[in-house]
Amino acid sequence: MRKIILAAIAVLAFGGVGAAQSFPSRPVTIIVPFSAGGPSDAMARILAERMKASLGEQVLVENVTGAGGSVGVGRAVRSPPDGYTISFGHLGTHVANGAVYKLGYDLVTDLEPVALLPSNPMIIVSKKAVPATSLKEFLAWLKAQPAAPIAGTAGAGSGSHIAGLYFENVSGIKLQYVPYRGTGPAMNDLVSGQIDMIVDQTSNSIGQVRAGNIRAYAITDSKRVESASDIPTVDEAGLPGFHMTLWSGLWVPKGTPKDVIAKLNTATVEALNDPAVRKQLENLGLQMPPKDKLTPEALGAWQKAEIAKWWPMIKAANVKVD
Ligand code: MLT
Repeated sequence: MRKIILAAIAVLAFGGVGAAQSFPSRPVTIIVPFSAGGPSDAMARILAERMKASLGEQVLVENVTGAGGSVGVGRAVRSPPDGYTISFGHLGTHVANGAVYKLGYDLVTDLEPVALLPSNPMIIVSKKAVPATSLKEFLAWLKAQPAAPIAGTAGAGSGSHIAGLYFENVSGIKLQYVPYRGTGPAMNDLVSGQIDMIVDQTSNSIGQVRAGNIRAYAITDSKRVESASDIPTVDEAGLPGFHMTLWSGLWVPKGTPKDVIAKLNTATVEALNDPAVRKQLENLGLQMPPKDKLTPEALGAWQKAEIAKWWPMIKAANVKVD
């Protein structure tokens, strides 16, 4: 009898350790809250491919879209807290959405941070038909339009939407927004000329800029992107101080065992340290997170700081969502 009791105590006391020792024993899924083919999807797939080697199990990417990414995040929040479902998100989904939607979950207390991921500035891009070869000329073209120019976004509260609101604030130009399920599909309509512009993640636009299919005017940073050094900064081009960095991250549902989180964090950091992965991401204009910001706690602190920074502006914009 004594042995049974001791065995039971051991299981109860060290259940978490048991959880991590056997984790993962089946595929892990990363929920990307935007359409395939966009910047979130691209980053998640590059990382998932390398995380497989560290975890020893398949790492799948599932696109669950809608409502500025909040549908996909909600799916992850409500999944079992066992480490097998990971929430991919960013400044839009894990900060801005909380100021735009009645989410039904709390972005901080219903999720546990895993790791900060690469970031990139936004880029102001337009359809090729716009006869502007500089940001100043583009701003003049926008102001001369008979109706509010059309900006594509990934939905209210998405990174591209917040960037659009910020652009309106600094330029004084009123935009109308067309929401997509991600900036992948928005980019298709920009290339075909259906919409006028996107304030997009650099990583999503850079390929089309290089191919000459859209026009780029400036990036929202104080320094140029190394892999796109021909594109000026907003400070150089005429919208000084319009700085915005879109960072991404991984979270799991509240209650996921700490040692499972640690295992996922290790696999993520190993992917970020892999030279081939770094090359792929940096070629997209993405910057690696600082080495001292790679712990789960660092992401948690960063997310809270970003909420404090962005919510006042977003709430002041009085974004209406149906
Ligand atoms: C955003 O605008 O929030 C993202 O770039 C959307 C996406 O990753 O598709």
